[in-house]
Amino acid sequence: MSKILTTESGAPVADNQNSAQAGIGGPLLIQDQQLIEKLARFNRERIPERIVHARGSGAHGYFEVTDDVTPFTKAAFLNTVGKRTDVFLRFSTVAGNLGAADAVRDPRGFALKFYTEQGNYDLVGNNTPVFFIKDPIKFPDFIHSQKRDPFTGAGEADNVWDYWSYSPESLHQVTWLFGDRGIPASYRHMNGYGSHTYQWVAEDGSAYWVKYHFKTNQGIRCLDADQAAELAGQDPDSHQRDLHQAIERGIFPTWTVYVQLMPVAEAAEYRFNPFDLTKVWPHSDYPLQRVGRLVLNRNPENVFAEVEQAAFSPNNFVPGIGASPDKMLQGRLFAYADAHRYRLGVNHTQLSINAPKATEAHNYGRDGYAAVNTGGRAKNYEPNSYDGPRQTDAPLAAPTAVSGWTGTHVAPQHAKDDDFFQAGELYRLMSKGEQDRLIANLAGSIGSVTRDDVVERVLPFFHAADADYGRRLEAAVKAIRQADEV
Ligand code: HEM
Repeated sequence: MSKILTTESGAPVADNQNSAQAGIGGPLLIQDQQLIEKLARFNRERIPERIVHARGSGAHGYFEVTDDVTPFTKAAFLNTVGKRTDVFLRFSTVAGNLGAADAVRDPRGFALKFYTEQGNYDLVGNNTPVFFIKDPIKFPDFIHSQKRDPFTGAGEADNVWDYWSYSPESLHQVTWLFGDRGIPASYRHMNGYGSHTYQWVAEDGSAYWVKYHFKTNQGIRCLDADQAAELAGQDPDSHQRDLHQAIERGIFPTWTVYVQLMPVAEAAEYRFNPFDLTKVWPHSDYPLQRVGRLVLNRNPENVFAEVEQAAFSPNNFVPGIGASPDKMLQGRLFAYADAHRYRLGVNHTQLSINAPKATEAHNYGRDGYAAVNTGGRAKNYEPNSYDGPRQTDAPLAAPTAVSGWTGTHVAPQHAKDDDFFQAGELYRLMSKGEQDRLIANLAGSIGSVTRDDVVERVLPFFHAADADYGRRLEAAVKAIRQADEV
């Protein structure tokens, strides 16, 4: 027998179809608790959407260790081959708002929460190994240039390219974004990357710089610009539908997880600054080493509870894994938990999707809006003589050497560091067909810029990356702009 309908305080509801009125055909009564409660709650159903990566899809699964990495990290969830750890992964697009279409040219987020026995470890990456900028102070401006213009209320190619024309370090990621992988066919058919350099530290204290790679076992599949435009119009929820339906049918997507490891002593002399997020470490320098397997095998029961309320933060580390001096990562260590306090409130870590599962949180943080785990009568200060939780005195990560003066410094330049070399390498790696499509995609976007000075500022970057890349793109942009003038 079905349960009886109640108000939020548990009282029975007599009529859920007709509002209470003062007489037949008369005005409504404010004493109608069911009506007032329903309308008021409905007005509050939405919470602020994420300022970036608002549109996303999530799934539960597990991570399994397949290879011994104990010489490199003491992280408990990685310490035994065959060990499984529950995970939740949220995929996303970046620029679009909550209702935006999935099939668009945009990086994809790849945010992973490992529910480890030493607390939750969040790896908040993308489907690209690099990023557009390398200093967090530029992030709000960069994102503003990609989103809607304050006057026109629409996305503007002028703004996008105006910003990039002053940020030559974006060229590597721009080349990636306008290439074939710029529009994945689905979340299942793309790789994930930690992108930043992180630190691993082993039980014996030896430390490594590490980069994560999640290679899809579904194969890479992408859409070209026309296919994407059609799909985005027909089914704005194409990525969501694909992921949800695959998992419902028991077709569980998997990724093989690799790392690149650099002994910390090699960082200073490496040809690229290893903490520069606009650069990769070529695999010929630091080969991929397999670590494990990621499997997604369970859909969220409730999208709001598990996907919208999920909060991933790059500062959620576990012992054996830590930060690097990458400036972008350093900025992110602040930005995410701050966003969560705004978007979800100070007690967001108590929500079941965010709370630790393989261990419990014990600390002296208390109260605030919607506190559920209040700590009861336990003392709310430390140290105390009431057998409250205590610090371990065991450092989580290895110390990093620093020197010099404070100041707004540019990142240190290593031998092969410039803004263009790796973008050129990426172009030269592409087949002729891939290069053709890259040029067409870029020319289509730059060709729609209305300001000559923006186009003139940006084209030299492509020439600097590769002579052929620059020459072909310039010709294609000119052809489009001349055709527009006719
Ligand atoms: C300094 C640079 C950056 C800043 C300040 C920044 C800031 C943010 C903020 C405020 C959010 C929304 C968080 C929330 O409301 O839950 C977010 C989401 C996200 N960011 Fe960043 N971001 C930066 C760079 C990056 C980079 C380099 C990557 C990838 C390598 C990345 C990946 C993501 C992902 C995947 C999400 C969505 C997380 C989710 O699914 O909930 N971001 N970012």
